[in-house]
Amino acid sequence: MLYKIVPALRAAMNASSLSFSESGQADVTLSGVTEDNAIEKVKAASLCGKASVAIDGLGVFTAKEAAEGRLSGKIAIVTGSAQGFGLGIAEEMIAQGANVVIADLNIDLAAKVADELCKKNGAGRAFACKVDVSDEASVEAMIEDTVKAFGGLDIFVNNAGVLKAGGLEEMDAKSFEFVTKINYEAYYFCAKYASRVMKLQHAVAPDKFYDIIQINSKSGLEGSNKNFAYAGGKFGGIGLTQSFALELVEFNIKVNSICPGNYYDGPLWSDPERGLFVQYLKAGKVPGAKTAADVKKFYEAKTPIKRGCMPLDVARAIFYIVEQEFETGQAVPVTGGQVMLN
Ligand SMILES: NC(=O)c1ccc[n+]([C@@H]2O[C@H](COP(=O)([O-])OP(=O)(O)OC[C@H]3O[C@@H](n4cnc5c(N)ncnc54)[C@H](O)[C@@H]3O)[C@@H](O)[C@H]2O)c1
Repeated sequence: MLYKIVPALRAAMNASSLSFSESGQADVTLSGVTEDNAIEKVKAASLCGKASVAIDGLGVFTAKEAAEGRLSGKIAIVTGSAQGFGLGIAEEMIAQGANVVIADLNIDLAAKVADELCKKNGAGRAFACKVDVSDEASVEAMIEDTVKAFGGLDIFVNNAGVLKAGGLEEMDAKSFEFVTKINYEAYYFCAKYASRVMKLQHAVAPDKFYDIIQINSKSGLEGSNKNFAYAGGKFGGIGLTQSFALELVEFNIKVNSICPGNYYDGPLWSDPERGLFVQYLKAGKVPGAKTAADVKKFYEAKTPIKRGCMPLDVARAIFYIVEQEFETGQAVPVTGGQVMLN
């Protein structure tokens, strides 16, 4: 399994990212490398600063130059990044020097996004990966594909999420399970396989830090009326974050959640046909509202800083979390003052 070997090689080469080819010339060739001995083999080989290394039976790995920015040289996965918050987060992270995997169930849209990001930021800086985060084997394959594309993993952004609102009389067991599987259980699958790569890097480069970041919600901090499947899973996500943080701290893996307020300009709210503003207008949820814009104004007024949350607001929390080496297990609110912590 590539992902159980190559991250150790990347750490030993001190490379920001690696490109992979099945054959070719290399500065050094290592033989007899297995999953069990990878750490000691790469540590013993004095690989720091080498431009290319071949591993017999696996291929040739060549160090790539890092782009500049606050995330220079970092490799990141953002799940659910074909649209919405995930897309905006991926755009901001790549603009700050990260190489980013656009991991999404909607592979056609993810491929288009990755293509555009590469055109704007440089060839090979993003790649699209099809994943269903609620399927363990699919999550493992995403991690393997990431290591093949970039050589390792520094920041995992667990963003993919779904919302099916409904009170006790409307919600059925199937919908409850669907929401819980993607918003809650999938985070466990993702943390399991992402941390494996990070642990391997830590074993070779013990002074570096890695991040698992869950995009939670303000509904993970306070209950949400007739939206308990979503809020319950998000509350549970903070329990996972705190527990993963305690378990992974010895590997310099920080684990934090970010709790954004509503992204009114994103597709969930603003889609002209299926968005929540149109749905709430039709349902007469906001008294006196005549247009979707009236509904939007009503919701914006609920926030002390009178606007919705934007991807850049969330990305700034990501930059803080990554740069802050003295914090873990936290839930960082980005709500414009709508939810205040005790
Ligand atoms: N939009 C908001 O107002 C808001 C507010 C607070 C928190 N959040 C959170 O932000 C995250 C993103 O929300 P959004 O509104 O941008 O979502 P969105 O619906 O716009 O996009 C979600 C993306 O996730 C993908 N996806 C869905 N199920 C998947 C699966 N099983 N595996 C892989 N990918 C899958 C979709 O294809 C889509 O591209 C979620 O975790 C959500 O709970 C959203």
